[in-house]
Amino acid sequence: MAAIEPIDIVELGVADAPAGLVLSTEAGWNQNEADWRFFLSHGIVFGVRDGDRLVASAALLPYWAGNAWISMVLVTPDFRRRGIATKLVDACLDVAKRRGLTAWLDATPAGATVYGPLGFEPTLQLRRLRLEKPQGANATRPLSAGNLDALATRDSRAMGFDRSTLLSAFVARPGSRIVSDERAMALIRDGRAARHIGPLLADRADQALGLVEAIVGSESGPWLIDAVHAQDAFLEGLVRAGWNIERPFQRMRFGAATALPAQLPFAVAGPEFG
Ligand SMILES: CC(C)(COP(=O)(O)OP(=O)(O)OC[C@H]1O[C@@H](n2cnc3c(N)ncnc32)[C@H](O)[C@@H]1OP(=O)(O)O)[C@@H](O)C(=O)NCCC(=O)NCCS
Repeated sequence: MAAIEPIDIVELGVADAPAGLVLSTEAGWNQNEADWRFFLSHGIVFGVRDGDRLVASAALLPYWAGNAWISMVLVTPDFRRRGIATKLVDACLDVAKRRGLTAWLDATPAGATVYGPLGFEPTLQLRRLRLEKPQGANATRPLSAGNLDALATRDSRAMGFDRSTLLSAFVARPGSRIVSDERAMALIRDGRAARHIGPLLADRADQALGLVEAIVGSESGPWLIDAVHAQDAFLEGLVRAGWNIERPFQRMRFGAATALPAQLPFAVAGPEFG
């Protein structure tokens, strides 16, 4: 549907975190208020208001080495198909272009229909999986507390750029922990409705699966994980262990690839963070 009224885009501030949370909760997403505060204080978040009500959002989070993540592209149902998401993502891209940033995002199928025509190109695919009822405290392998520097170093090899600011903010939240066992390492954090595992870094699928098994045996869920589709042995192992595939995400890039990741992660930090 063509726009029937002008769309005023505003830049949002940290005080908009609760209103942002209403939008992402309405879409059934797992972000909590701490996630919104991170975007609003470290990124540039655009929004559209109808009176006092926030009805749409999109965030650009600058990372390191000329890269940025676009996320939180949300339009409340009664304002959809008026070109609002397109305009908000355009506003994010304008900032990215001005700052010389390559923009990345992980698109839902609905989002991909907006981003493709804007010039985003597909890269890797992800699968969001959910484990509703893990067996409970039944750890099969020893889990030790991981180290933030070691996680940031491995994460940077997997992404091609540094994300220590994000990872240290995650770790500082109540309920977060870094866990490792021999060759695998992961971050666990609270979400609005489920605990989230990611990023998860390992050399081999069996190591990654062993770590997930130990994590879900160490505390109760429900759990979410965003697995890299190309890690097929890992994905198949999760499904065999009772995880359900909820939805696909398509990673997309706007602009030149600036850094080549050395090693694929098994699970990412989340579609909103990459
Ligand atoms: C995806 C979403 C952000 C789109 O917002 P929107 O403001 O309706 O998008 P736009 O009006 O800019 O759509 C632009 C074009 O994308 C396509 N498009 C958008 N939503 C679509 C849908 N649900 N199905 C098919 N095509 C769609 C259409 O081609 C549309 O143009 P048209 O309306 O002229 O046909 C919104 O539906 C939403 O919030 N969904 C839930 C959360 C979500 O998935 N966000 C994306 C995260 S990556």
